[in-house]
Amino acid sequence: GAPIDVDLTPIQDGQIVNVFWRGKLIFVRKLTAKEVTDMEAVPLSAMIDPAAFPTRVKKGHDQWLIVYGNCTHLGCVPIGHQGSFEGWACPCHGSQFDAVGRVRHGPAPINLPIPPYAFETDTKIRIG
Ligand code: FES
Repeated sequence: GAPIDVDLTPIQDGQIVNVFWRGKLIFVRKLTAKEVTDMEAVPLSAMIDPAAFPTRVKKGHDQWLIVYGNCTHLGCVPIGHQGSFEGWACPCHGSQFDAVGRVRHGPAPINLPIPPYAFETDTKIRIG
């Protein structure tokens, strides 16, 4: 599939936007400043699939999270701004993800994967 460009300009702090690339759902999320601070502070020991904050975002673009939007358990679509970790809760079997898509409560075994993407400008990304 061809790459897609996503204009970040209209996305507000805290907002999650759904886009599709290669038929796959992708969440584009603008973290609030508090969410960034909170996610940076989570100890790796608290995670099921440990991943430090900088591995989840692009350098210099800490407020932007781009992840695939299907639960890593059996593929349901987690609901944003639900659960106990400022992220998502899966309606199927109760997995919870934090604000940068790290699984914090199973049965999902791994974090929401990050698709290939790059910043074209500060306000535009290209996925693919
Ligand atoms: Fe999400 Fe099972 S598909 S918890």
